[in-house]
Amino acid sequence: MTELNHLLTNNEHWSERIKAEDPTFFDKLAKQQRPEYLWIGCSDSRVPANQIVDLLPGDIFVHRNVANQVIHTDYNCLTVLQYAIEVLKVKHVIVCGHYGCGGVEAALTDETNGLIDNWLGHIRDVAKQHSVELAELKGEAKVARLCELNVLQQAANVRRTSIVKDAIRRGQPLTIHSWIYSLKNGRITVLGNT
Ligand code: CO
Repeated sequence: MTELNHLLTNNEHWSERIKAEDPTFFDKLAKQQRPEYLWIGCSDSRVPANQIVDLLPGDIFVHRNVANQVIHTDYNCLTVLQYAIEVLKVKHVIVCGHYGCGGVEAALTDETNGLIDNWLGHIRDVAKQHSVELAELKGEAKVARLCELNVLQQAANVRRTSIVKDAIRRGQPLTIHSWIYSLKNGRITVLGNT
């Protein structure tokens, strides 16, 4: 426990700082959350949703997994998506990948990595679909392009879920965004939105 004492001290200071800025902050949040955004991002520790877009607790609903994937048999992600859209009624779903993604890079190699290969197989499928374009690229540029293609594919997967189709049928306002983050300068690039 003593190894983690600095985290608990950080937490104490953070909580005091927030309360100093807004004494009712935690009381308001404890009653309900009303985020307008769902973030689907990579688990990478360098890509923390709230910090990147400078939002406070309560502002963004978050799902993260290795290489920001939306797989139609993944009940974890689908449950988050359903809750965000049907209960929280978020207006925006943001799929945010990042350049230099280890998961995407691993999908470009033939190495076996155990269980994670099943997960990365979906990105290998994306690479196969774009094999002609990717064959023209090498090294970092190839990984970067597959990172972008993966974001676009995962955003398309969001759009294809029955959850999103039902929301659109109901006339619920909803936009799906494809974003990619640079570890090198901390900036987000918009790849598209629908
Ligand atoms: Co990543």
